[in-house]
Amino acid sequence: MSATPPTTDPARFWEARYRDSERVWSGDPNPLLVREVTALTPGTALELGCGEGADAVWLAGRGWHVTGVDISATALERAAAHAADAGVTERTDWQRHELGVTFPEGTYDLVSAQFLQSPVALDQGRVLAPAARAVAPGGTLLLVLHGGWPSWQGEHDHPFDAVFPTLDGVLEQLALPDTWQVETREAVERPAPSPEGAPGTRVDLVWRLRRTA
Ligand SMILES: C[S@@+](CC[C@H](N)C(=O)[O-])C[C@H]1O[C@@H](n2cnc3c(N)ncnc32)[C@H](O)[C@@H]1O
Repeated sequence: MSATPPTTDPARFWEARYRDSERVWSGDPNPLLVREVTALTPGTALELGCGEGADAVWLAGRGWHVTGVDISATALERAAAHAADAGVTERTDWQRHELGVTFPEGTYDLVSAQFLQSPVALDQGRVLAPAARAVAPGGTLLLVLHGGWPSWQGEHDHPFDAVFPTLDGVLEQLALPDTWQVETREAVERPAPSPEGAPGTRVDLVWRLRRTA
């Protein structure tokens, strides 16, 4: 059975989600971000839906100058505190945006979005296009999205109704000109135990796209 989120307003939904617990995410960078970015030369980076800042702080620790964006002020406060603890405050900037409505200014050597997915209003089409436009020539767009529910979640036992992306569907939505190269386009299955510790797996989708000109 799938439940309806308590509110359909994305800002209220995510603010409540963060306020409801002291910490929502692990604080560790996402493995696919680490895998895809480690070989890149640090420059400027934009992290969309940065949450509590683990990925942005990891990037800053490697020399990137990072702008982290989220809809939740509480998440951004925690991200700034994480950056201070890690000693990278001077390489981070935090901006509150409701992506799909407003978008940060400027262009960046890396634009990254890790699991920018939401049970309440988030129109990927209205985020992907400005995300690609924000990549500087020679820069990289890195997208990682869940490709489906974890294996342990029964077919009708989902916390909310979701339409998951596909590898080709996102590329079709982006409709990038041939000044872009697809460097990674992959479905990755990883271990994903249930909250009770039962073994399981989940498929994540990753695209690393380089703007050549
Ligand atoms: C599934 S979480 C992923 C967080 C983080 N990137 C990670 O991988 O741990 C989605 C994040 O996107 C943010 N978000 C959802 N809708 C948003 C929107 N319209 N604009 C900006 N951020 C949004 C949420 O507040 C949340 O932090």
